[in-house]
Amino acid sequence: MSPAVSITSKKILQIIFFACISILLAGCSSPSRVDQNERFIDNLLKEMTLAEKVGQMQVVHSPGRFDNEWLLDKLRNGQVGAILNEAHPEMIRKFQETAVEQGRLGIPLLFGRDVIHGFKTIFPINIGQAATFNPALVTYGAQIAAREASSVGLNWNFAPMVDISRDPRWGRMAESFGEDPFLVTEMGLAVMNGFQGDDLKLPYTMAACAKHFAGYGAAEGGRDYNTASIPDVDLWNIHLRPFRALSDAGIATFMTGFNELNGIPASGNAFLFRDILKDRWRFNGFVVSDWASVVEMKEHGFAADDREAAYKALHAGVDMEMASSSYEDHLEELVKTGMISEDLIDDAVRRILRVKLDLGLFDKPYVDQDSIIFSPPASHLEAARKMALQSFVLLKNHNRVLPLKREMEKVAVIGPMAHDRYEQLGTWIFDADTNLSITPLMALQDLLGKNRVNYAKGLGTTRSHETSGFNQARQAAAGATAVIMFLGEESIITGEAHSRAYLDLPGAQNELVMEIAKTGKPLILVIMTPRPLTIGEISEYADAVLYAWHPGTMAGPALADVLFGLESPSGKLPVTFVKTPGQIPMYYARKNTGRPASKESFVHIDDIPVRSFQTSLGNTSHYLDVGFEPLYPFGYGLSYTEFQYSDIKISADELIKGETLDIRVTLSNTGDFEAEEVVQLYIRDLVASITRPVRELKDFKRIRMNPGESRAVNFKLSSEQLGFFDQDGNYIVEPGEFMLWIGGSSEALLSLTFTLK
Ligand code: NOJ
Repeated sequence: MSPAVSITSKKILQIIFFACISILLAGCSSPSRVDQNERFIDNLLKEMTLAEKVGQMQVVHSPGRFDNEWLLDKLRNGQVGAILNEAHPEMIRKFQETAVEQGRLGIPLLFGRDVIHGFKTIFPINIGQAATFNPALVTYGAQIAAREASSVGLNWNFAPMVDISRDPRWGRMAESFGEDPFLVTEMGLAVMNGFQGDDLKLPYTMAACAKHFAGYGAAEGGRDYNTASIPDVDLWNIHLRPFRALSDAGIATFMTGFNELNGIPASGNAFLFRDILKDRWRFNGFVVSDWASVVEMKEHGFAADDREAAYKALHAGVDMEMASSSYEDHLEELVKTGMISEDLIDDAVRRILRVKLDLGLFDKPYVDQDSIIFSPPASHLEAARKMALQSFVLLKNHNRVLPLKREMEKVAVIGPMAHDRYEQLGTWIFDADTNLSITPLMALQDLLGKNRVNYAKGLGTTRSHETSGFNQARQAAAGATAVIMFLGEESIITGEAHSRAYLDLPGAQNELVMEIAKTGKPLILVIMTPRPLTIGEISEYADAVLYAWHPGTMAGPALADVLFGLESPSGKLPVTFVKTPGQIPMYYARKNTGRPASKESFVHIDDIPVRSFQTSLGNTSHYLDVGFEPLYPFGYGLSYTEFQYSDIKISADELIKGETLDIRVTLSNTGDFEAEEVVQLYIRDLVASITRPVRELKDFKRIRMNPGESRAVNFKLSSEQLGFFDQDGNYIVEPGEFMLWIGGSSEALLSLTFTLK
């Protein structure tokens, strides 16, 4: 189009052009739809000025309804590709209308938001979702979140976070799906499927974002934003696995991390984004930086100024810059002076436009105002309750104190998390409707009647050291048949930028427990925090401990169901619980070492004879003071019933490469409670060219069983699932002997061996 053509006539031509393309697209099957999209983008790129292209590469933080004239001007000038943190439907509409109706080319905007574990209806925090070991339920939760969020016009979700997280000091363990690459992958895919559905063009879908590529969860010392040093073998086998699966499954976008990885900040890391993601994995979507992480490469000492940061980020493969403006300020000049080829810009813009096309935004940039979900229907709350219920992990149940009997006279409800509509929701809840929250106190009063519940907060907050409330708490306990204490961490001391070095219950919560324990009443601790706290010692004072994470909107009803036996707990730990922070890092899929620790070889520090002869012989890889075992292992979780595993069978002792083993085990519910069990399958490659972990989770199944029922549980294991990556990222499947275990935790005992030929 010649520069002489006026904007208005261009606009008309453009509308005709888009309309023709839309008609063509409507009747196309998917391969040709891809071609049509690419042709559409070719044409659009020819229309765009360099400034407009760079504009697409910018995601801008919304100023909301105040002082936004500068943003409206930018939208008219085509200087913005996406807006983040605007969730008001009217503002979204206004910004979109300005871009589409008043922009020269009318390119629609993406609206991005962290809808991490729910929008208005809040589901359990992600680590709790992982504890369900129920990907189908997690998908359903993500569908509901997408339904609520997309109804206001949001079309891009900064989730799932699939950083492998093995350090409970790191606040963002909350948002993670835990320590295990297989579980994290399954949960990441479940979330992506819930957001993106089968086709992004369908209503109530959102573009998902795999973050933070890569190694962000391996921050040194669990300090957020810190350096990650990961050997190549671990990078390929542990940290990149979920990202690879999401890329293969068609996730629309990727986000960089704030961290440096092996000396190169993620946002300037060409090895990650060009070599691995775009070349090797053939990822088609686009990469967004994390918040200002491009310009933070100056602080990393990797770029002298914003210009160099922009240059390095673009070369590395970062297509869109979030929040900071180094692209906007420098890319045009870098192209004009020949420092950057315009082809790189075109590739980035093509990727961004592709996602916009996939979302159908060129055809339908606005949401239907009548479909906005202002108040979630009962079905959303019911799903949140179900997920919370399946996320609770019963860690201790001495003398079967749980479930409590509904006929009991009185229960004392004590603690700073017992009745706080906000804190039970967890981190990342910008859009939550706190009024929907039902607290444990509300639910228990509802279940038992107000006069049968003695409530005392005990402490003002989880962090408080002010003990003047102890007396009232003691009285509440003294007058009750049993005591339930709701403890943990408030939302704000978990999540991004909220790492901790001590992992005890904060404030004077331990003291409160000890005080209440003195009453001698049956004592149940419900711990509400996403962080695996070092609760070993304080648990000694209690009869039962239920780990509830941050359960979300429906915390109360779900907890009441479990505490009073309407449902058995069935969650399993997605992370290892340590006894003391000194044991970190600790995870079940450890390497064996040349001197593996064992119960037999362990000598406690107090048992070493004074001035005994110095020798390392017979000693193994453990701590003299706490040994080598965790407080609770990965995959652990009790039930109100008893599950027994027996009769493990395998279709052949030898597996030929390319073939699949059938594995079967008998699971029996020998208790007297209907309940669900998560059956877990682990393997070990006994000898390999690169040492392999002592156990690796390969599959799991959640199964509901009646009391007295016995059932065969079947798994399939292909030779392909037995491989691993070498240093260069090549996937290899080596012949040799393998061990296999099935059971209810990573310490499952039932095992057999087979050989891969
Ligand atoms: C920073 C966080 O690291 C990232 O996960 C999030 O999506 C962005 N901020 C946007 O809020």
